[in-house]
Amino acid sequence: MSPMQDKVCVVTGATSGVGLQTATELALRGARVVLVGRDPPRGVEAVELVKRRAPKADVAIHYADLARLDQVRELGAALHAALPRIDVLINNAGAMFQRRQLTAYGLEKTFALNHMAYFLLSDLLRDRLIASAPSRIVNVASDAHRGVTLDFDDLQGEKRYTGFRAYQRSKLCNILFTRELARRLDGTGVTVNCLHPGFVATRFGEENGGLFRLAINLAKRVAAITPERGALTSLYLATSSEVAGKTGGYYEKSKLATPSAAAQDDETARRLWEVSARIAGMAPSPG
Ligand SMILES: NC(=O)c1ccc[n+]([C@@H]2O[C@H](COP(=O)([O-])OP(=O)(O)OC[C@H]3O[C@@H](n4cnc5c(N)ncnc54)[C@H](OP(=O)(O)O)[C@@H]3O)[C@@H](O)[C@H]2O)c1
Repeated sequence: MSPMQDKVCVVTGATSGVGLQTATELALRGARVVLVGRDPPRGVEAVELVKRRAPKADVAIHYADLARLDQVRELGAALHAALPRIDVLINNAGAMFQRRQLTAYGLEKTFALNHMAYFLLSDLLRDRLIASAPSRIVNVASDAHRGVTLDFDDLQGEKRYTGFRAYQRSKLCNILFTRELARRLDGTGVTVNCLHPGFVATRFGEENGGLFRLAINLAKRVAAITPERGALTSLYLATSSEVAGKTGGYYEKSKLATPSAAAQDDETARRLWEVSARIAGMAPSPG
């Protein structure tokens, strides 16, 4: 029997690219897969695709605009109600926005979607994951985190914004969040790791227009790997016995890798946690 048989795996951003491929592979290994999408037609299409590839699989879908904290909270409640256990949570949904946009709550959209959704959903499902231990959280970060630091006086690009910089910072947040969450979950049986999937030919960047979209599509044609290969490190961290009990790491090509110096700064990780908890309206917690 596959070690993933009947394991409950929640995958955000599962309607496209790396997330869809990750969900499909988990389903093929016998996991109960819970997709998170934002758009019902795309969601239905993704469920059909997973079921076509893995006809025996138990596949469900939930919807949320993960750039909105209220919808992340509703998603957390819905997953709690629907799932008596959660073995794996894969925070994968992410995007880059060339123009600075604000969500209904006044948060900058890259920061909200790429960081705050990972932060808040992991917190909302924390009890379930602990009760299901040994369990795993996998955060899809990026090599793009290299070359930036966090500026707490301009965390959401109010003073200066470029789409790629905001994206880089959000992916740095993913790694810092992973380190701090791993520290806070120490001893619970829940591990948390993050990864760079590679440069993958997905729909990434397509929300943008003009030259940027043209350039990224060209680069994808020349240099990108397939979603099948792009999902391998997420799958490794979600399923491999080699990483059982290992936590707080950053992985590339299914190997532990060294992120930038800024991504290893535990004081910044702690501060990011405190700021994020305030933004999410969470009660201060020790640790
Ligand atoms: N592609 C790369 O080269 C690359 C490299 C490094 C890291 N990554 C990371 O890999 C992850 C997956 O990206 P991808 O390349 O697979 O891109 P993708 O094909 O564009 O998939 C992104 C997924 O996120 C979902 N999503 C976007 N905005 C959302 C929102 N507001 N609420 C809920 N879901 C939302 C999308 O839903 P829809 O289907 O409805 O659009 C889609 O399922 C991201 O975290 C990205 O930063 C990608």
